[in-house]
Amino acid sequence: MPSSKMGLFALLCLLVSGAGAAKVTLSPDNWGNPAGEECVSCHSKSSAGLTEQWRHSAHAKVGVNCLDCHQASTDDADAITHEGQTIATIVSPKDCGRCHAVEEQQQRGSVHAEAVAVIARRMPAMVTNLAGPAVEAAGCAQCHGSTVRVQANGELDPDTWPNSGIGRINPDRSRGSCSSCHGRHAFSKAQARKPEACVRCHSGPDSPDKEVFEASKHGMAFASHHDQMNLDAESWVAGKDYFAAPTCATCHMGAAGKLPATHDVGMRNVWNLNTPVSERQHLVVFADGGKREFPESMDAPKRGSKVPRLDGAEGDVKMVATPDRRRQAMSLVCRECHGKDFVEAFMRQFDGVVDLYNRKFGEPARAIMQALYSTGRLTPTPFDEPIEFAFWELWHDEGARARHGAAMMSPNHVWWEGMYVVARNFYGRFLPEVRAVAGDGADALIAKHVQDLPENEWLKHPERGSPLLGVGTARSAHE
Ligand code: HEC
Ligand code: HEC
Ligand code: HEC
Ligand code: HEC
Ligand code: HEC
Ligand code: HEC
Ligand code: HEC
Ligand code: HEC
Repeated sequence: MPSSKMGLFALLCLLVSGAGAAKVTLSPDNWGNPAGEECVSCHSKSSAGLTEQWRHSAHAKVGVNCLDCHQASTDDADAITHEGQTIATIVSPKDCGRCHAVEEQQQRGSVHAEAVAVIARRMPAMVTNLAGPAVEAAGCAQCHGSTVRVQANGELDPDTWPNSGIGRINPDRSRGSCSSCHGRHAFSKAQARKPEACVRCHSGPDSPDKEVFEASKHGMAFASHHDQMNLDAESWVAGKDYFAAPTCATCHMGAAGKLPATHDVGMRNVWNLNTPVSERQHLVVFADGGKREFPESMDAPKRGSKVPRLDGAEGDVKMVATPDRRRQAMSLVCRECHGKDFVEAFMRQFDGVVDLYNRKFGEPARAIMQALYSTGRLTPTPFDEPIEFAFWELWHDEGARARHGAAMMSPNHVWWEGMYVVARNFYGRFLPEVRAVAGDGADALIAKHVQDLPENEWLKHPERGSPLLGVGTARSAHE
């Protein structure tokens, strides 16, 4: 077998690990706790809607009741005594994992589980400086998750709960909340297969996946053929159980051909698209299933070596998925509905937009900002100077929109909502701000990082004129 095939094979094996086992880890004699009947009967009155949601769920059908999920042991940090039983309000991924070990393990190693860690360092700059703790609780935490605190009386601290943030740190230290995609108390898989499960968080200026998807041909096909998506099916393999359109879950989580489904949403992604400059990423998988990305510019760590994990502790490298392998995995999904050359050509167009953004805008803007900080032209405090907003929005808002647009087939977001706004910001706002703060040094800085790029050759040719006043008009005005 050629080595490229071997790599993919290993990746598929890794992804599929555990899938041969039974779908649910426990056997039925471990649930259906008779004491749970009382919960149902009283809650049918005290919270009838909630109880009806459960009654219509797959769990109720097989006899998994309130107590099977909400049971707790007295040494759990958030255990309370409730009507004679020890329960916890939060049913964490670890609790679900008693019965759904495969999904829990995949979710645990995913970027979603890092969503609180990823913002911890940015919190002060973003929330404390620009807003305040109330916004953290009602804003950031609703998507990213909070660190849930338990009060002395066992109740959950209202500054940190409720939310079903995707990386929430729970009282049992597990991370995430399965109800962020499987809304309670239905916990339906059909719901999670729809874009609606994702777009509550993945929408807006910096992660405009809702808007991008809706503006793509995939969104068009999904909207037109909703009824052919077979969303309630037991098995949901692209190309076999449905074919009309892909959803978010299809490309990032779903099974396709030999590629198994996964609860690790980042597995198939090559780039980090939400950074000032994008770089292709290796995915390192540790012996215990944990993961971490390393940029391709660093040598890929060797199997069996030790490298630092996100939290700083050493991890044993079990395998490395290179950017090319990750791209192969994503392309397998596409190829259920498209040809090989089509998919490769598409990926080339996508990578081309990311490269162009990097070279023409991301790298120059970052280099100029670094120079301004290191020469003391800017204070180290974030967001106290106008140029910091211009730079931030350049990569975080319009820059992200252009790159997400190219990744997910929305021409509108590549150009009008994306790169056009990037250029408007860069030439019309960022560079004038550089001139305002850099004083005498501005010309040299701009010449070095901007004017000398081949992409900016056009700046040197005022004689070419412009059609800004309308087609033909500018030319005749110059003539
Ligand atoms: C006799 C009626 C009754 C029984 C039996 C009962 N509950 Fe409750 N439960 C309530 C009422 C009423 C509330 C709302 C009271 C409140 O939150 O102050 C509540 C609140 C809760 C809460 C929310 C706690 C919170 O954080 O505020 C959970 C979770 C819960 N019940 C689960 C269960 C489970 C699981 C069982 C079975 C072991 C159960 N209940 C049995 C009446 C009952
Ligand atoms: C499959 C597991 C599961 C089952 C079965 C289950 N719950 Fe829950 N329940 C959860 C999860 C998950 C949450 C969300 C807690 C969080 O993350 O904040 C929750 C939250 C709650 C809450 C507090 C949140 C709210 O919306 O007020 C109550 C009350 C509650 N459950 C009661 C019940 C009752 C009563 C039953 C039985 C009729 C039941 N649960 C069955 C998993 C379950
Ligand atoms: C509507 C949901 C939502 C809210 C509210 C939200 N985020 Fe995010 N955030 C996301 C998503 C989704 C991503 C992933 C973007 C991607 O990779 O495409 C993200 C990514 C990030 C990142 C990493 C990359 C980047 O874009 O900078 C940081 C840091 C971050 N968020 C900080 C915050 C902070 C701090 C707040 C509150 C002030 C906040 N977020 C509010 C959904 C949200
Ligand atoms: C990012 C959204 C998301 C989160 C978070 C999530 N799931 Fe899922 N889940 C899905 C999707 C999408 C499917 C359907 C996958 C498919 O059929 O291809 C699914 C399917 C499932 C299934 C059905 C599997 C089968 O083969 O029938 C189970 C069980 C499940 N999830 C459990 C969990 C548990 C437990 C957690 C928390 C550890 C969790 N999920 C968190 C999106 C999510
Ligand atoms: C005590 C065992 C048990 C626990 C705890 C449990 N589940 Fe389940 N779950 C089951 C069983 C059994 C099924 C039905 C399996 C089947 O249909 O093959 C199921 C089915 C599911 C499905 C598929 C539903 C559908 O639409 O067909 C999802 C999603 C799911 N569970 C998520 C969760 C989540 C999230 C939690 C934690 C909040 C959880 N489960 C806790 C046993 C459990
Ligand atoms: C409750 C909010 C929330 C929901 C729901 C959610 N996500 Fe996310 N997602 C996030 C946040 C926050 C991040 C950034 C986390 C980080 O960088 O660690 C993220 C990151 C991602 C990434 C980026 C992975 C990478 O390589 O960096 C993908 C892909 C993704 N989510 C897909 C999905 C899909 C598909 C769904 C629905 C099935 C979904 N998400 C549902 C909040 C959410
Ligand atoms: C047709 C397949 C497809 C569909 C449908 C799709 N995506 Fe993507 N998505 C991609 C590809 C391809 C990338 C770029 C992967 C890479 O970096 O190589 C991507 C990138 C992303 C990223 C950026 C991760 C990063 O690196 O920062 C997020 C977040 C994301 N998608 C979420 C979603 C959500 C949410 C939906 C639904 C609204 C969705 N996607 C629909 C294929 C898809
Ligand atoms: C479940 C089937 C399915 C999957 C999986 C799928 N697509 Fe599509 N794709 C479609 C359909 C249907 C259309 C619309 C075709 C049309 O309307 O002419 C489409 C359209 C497109 C278009 C627009 C082409 C045009 O002619 O305008 C591109 C580009 C594309 N897909 C790329 C991809 C990529 C890349 C992937 C994988 C990351 C992917 N697709 C995954 C079904 C799928």
